[in-house]
Amino acid sequence: MRGRIGTGERVPDAPLAWLVGDDIRTTSMIELSRGARVVVVGVPGAFTPICTRTHIPQFVEMAPSLQASGFSKVICVTGNDPWVTQLWADRLDPEGRLVFLSDGNLEFGRRCGLTRNLTDLFGGERLDRFTMTVCKGFVERLSVEPSPMEITCTSADSCRLAEI
Ligand code: BEZ
Repeated sequence: MRGRIGTGERVPDAPLAWLVGDDIRTTSMIELSRGARVVVVGVPGAFTPICTRTHIPQFVEMAPSLQASGFSKVICVTGNDPWVTQLWADRLDPEGRLVFLSDGNLEFGRRCGLTRNLTDLFGGERLDRFTMTVCKGFVERLSVEPSPMEITCTSADSCRLAEI
């Protein structure tokens, strides 16, 4: 197991999935940030209370101002499978302001050192709750919640106001 990815490091070229009809398509953070600056919010689980009621709705609401502050995309990554991820995206973001991607195999999360064991909550291994800004394939800024049950340093507002 590797340590946590740091500022200035290249993001892993790990597949992230979404659905087109019943077909799984994949992309990567390298591809999504090619020639661009993107903001990524990683969450432990679709349909879990904090992610669903508080954390991701902030990003949906603030997506236009995040875009106005220089991010070409706002990307939500979760360790759920692509079907659950899609259903959750449809529920939370019917206008499609965010890009929702499945890291269902946790390859991106593990290669970034951004997973944790949530066995106590019957969650198994999950993504950490984190925000990451990525410019042209490199991490510019990373904030990881010490506890996945809190939002202290990963709010949408903290991304918009961050000095890069
Ligand atoms: C949440 O409410 O977002 C949550 C609940 C259990 C595990 C991880 C996250």
